[in-house]
Amino acid sequence: MANAFRFSVAPMLDCTDRHFRVLMRQVSRHCLLYTEMVVARALVARWREGPPDSAGERGRRLERLLGFDPLEKPLALQLGGKDPKELAQAARLAAEWGYDEVNLNVGCPSPKASQGSFGACLMARPERVADCVAAMGAASGLPVTVKHRIGIDARDSFAELLGFVDIVAAAGAERFAVHARKAWLEGLDPKENRTIPPLRWDLVHQLKRERPTLRVELNGGLDTLATCRSQLDQGIDGVMVGRAAYEHPLRWAEVDPLVFGQFDLVSPRPSTVLRGVIPHAERWCGQGGRLWALARHLVHVVEGVKGARGWRAQLSRQAGQRNAGPEVLAEAARALEERGL
Ligand SMILES: Cc1cc2nc3c(=O)[nH]c(=O)nc-3n(C[C@H](O)[C@H](O)[C@H](O)COP(=O)(O)O)c2cc1C
Repeated sequence: MANAFRFSVAPMLDCTDRHFRVLMRQVSRHCLLYTEMVVARALVARWREGPPDSAGERGRRLERLLGFDPLEKPLALQLGGKDPKELAQAARLAAEWGYDEVNLNVGCPSPKASQGSFGACLMARPERVADCVAAMGAASGLPVTVKHRIGIDARDSFAELLGFVDIVAAAGAERFAVHARKAWLEGLDPKENRTIPPLRWDLVHQLKRERPTLRVELNGGLDTLATCRSQLDQGIDGVMVGRAAYEHPLRWAEVDPLVFGQFDLVSPRPSTVLRGVIPHAERWCGQGGRLWALARHLVHVVEGVKGARGWRAQLSRQAGQRNAGPEVLAEAARALEERGL
């Protein structure tokens, strides 16, 4: 786990599910992976449903929210919530399940999160975030980290950002993953809130300079490994990549040597990523899961080469069949190997 956060793949709803994480683990053995945000209240409600029934249904429902393949580690569970007791119970479950850390979402600007008084709107309540962080740490014994914005609405001065971080750090937060954009909670939808407010990497660097003992991770708009490397060289502790990792997974093939100094690992290629995912596909399909759940992510591993579109179309067609199995991936990998990819 040491230093895994120097490069991490951001939590993304509908993207960073267990299948994508297995894919990404073929690309980098060392980076930190995050789950999608899990709402603490939903998790605790499942847990309260009682002991496993004879069919193990309760266990299965929790498994759907928390389950992962050990090869995904190091892995952080991201939680959404505002209630210290609920978050503490959710963090305890994270520890029982074997997660390496637990992260609190203080960056989500969706109306649903704001109506539930969690996500980015919590930036206006640093004491409440501090209570949550302290409760999560005490209950789980896991490192607790926070992902947040540089500000919300009119509360966007550097002094306010610093005040937020100081209060939350005093409660024991291990690391701050900062999406270097403010969020407009009124007026912009979540997608616009990831593009319209300008990126301010400078403020994240300033935070690190003024609080050099804190661990600060930069997120937002990082789209090449060279840029990430340069940000790390300028003193930031970690870089977190979201959309560019999801849409272009193989763009990060050199993360292990260039960020983690692991030069002995063979660089992944599209075909080795596919082959690496097959054991997971066998387990998943063996339990009755649809191959498409994995394949929808795998279509992104080939890009920028002649025939990429045809390969993607074929994989989509075959993996989309109701009874498609892992042999579809083996065939897709063979097609790539024949072309030296
Ligand atoms: C489809 C999608 C889903 C997201 N879901 C989450 C989430 O569950 N939790 C979270 O903290 N951020 C979420 N985000 C925000 C990302 O983690 C990240 O902060 C943002 O995309 C900026 O980083 P990027 O420019 O590298 O993509 C999501 C972003 C996208 C595009």
